[in-house]
Amino acid sequence: EKSGFDDFMSKEILEQPGALRDTLAGRLASSGELILDETTSDPDSLARINKVFIVACGTSYHAGMVAKYAIEHWTKVPVELDISSEFRYRDPVVDERTLVVAVSQSGETLDTLAALHEAKNLGAQTLAVCNVVGSSMARLADTVMYTRAGPEVGVAATKTHTAQIGALLLLALNLARTKGQLYPSEIDALYEELTLVPAKIQEVLNSWDAIGEVAKRFSGSSRFYFIGRHVGYPVALEGALKLKEISYLPAEGYPAGELKHGPIAMLDEMAVVVAIATRTRLYEKIVSNIEEVRARNSSVIIIGNPGDEGQANLGESFISVPRVHPLFAPLVDVVPLQIFAYHMARNLGMDVDRPRNLAKTVTVE
Ligand code: F6R
Repeated sequence: EKSGFDDFMSKEILEQPGALRDTLAGRLASSGELILDETTSDPDSLARINKVFIVACGTSYHAGMVAKYAIEHWTKVPVELDISSEFRYRDPVVDERTLVVAVSQSGETLDTLAALHEAKNLGAQTLAVCNVVGSSMARLADTVMYTRAGPEVGVAATKTHTAQIGALLLLALNLARTKGQLYPSEIDALYEELTLVPAKIQEVLNSWDAIGEVAKRFSGSSRFYFIGRHVGYPVALEGALKLKEISYLPAEGYPAGELKHGPIAMLDEMAVVVAIATRTRLYEKIVSNIEEVRARNSSVIIIGNPGDEGQANLGESFISVPRVHPLFAPLVDVVPLQIFAYHMARNLGMDVDRPRNLAKTVTVE
């Protein structure tokens, strides 16, 4: 039910504060312990984990990338990450001390389901992060953590993506507690700060029309590069994927430090570079990467925090988003990119809910 919206995608983008709020709500027990959903594994087995392996496809994979930064930072447990269709056909090194996390909105994506099967066969502990209750992955995994984003109809994942990041951040905090890497008071404080993020996302949504103006300015452009560093890197990949899948415009995402190892050769006055330049860990470095881009006369759209507008020279575009904890930034920074892709696609007359050649749930290889 679109209930008055032009399409499901805009409705679902706008539902993100609620989707994240519901995913985070009630997850902290009075003991400070984070509450997962269904589980058949004993808590001690989680304490024995010495490696996390995340498997996912597409947008869910990008959420998994964010989780890698957070889990390694807070828990010191090494995290490996793989695209499900690669994991299932190589020889992944996992054992009973590995926690394999399958991230999937639908819980039905064939490659991720097969990767989960493979992980179980190898004796790993398994966790499914899914949005669909009772889905195949939820039934197969030892433990389930549901994202409570509500049904997502638009083929391009939006609210389930931010909910996945929220759920995975909770997992990171849970593991940090299990591993004794963070004090309970630190976990409480971080959880508290995380619950403030939905309101920050709402602030970004209030810029809907302003982001539409930026999209209008670039409606004639035909080549886009998204760059970011640290957790801005998965955000860049996700921004490029959203634009590709609904507008069909060529778009690539890169870790900004990689520019000079190849992609910078493509930059000219026709290229548009979208830089995720919020105040996260490598802020100064992304600023110098933006300078390198400017020197090639490419247009730059900056996603930045209030007070940094000065970075955008006249004729360039600055989209301001609220500043949050550096590891929570993807939750906020990805939203203007969803809205940008939405406007670009609409301006080109595309069906944003049903992009060509794509299916909402990929149950074939
Ligand atoms: C992109 C998109 C896809 C899915 C991917 C995995 O907007 O929706 O890339 O993220 O097909 O799907 P799930 O999460 O259902 O496993």
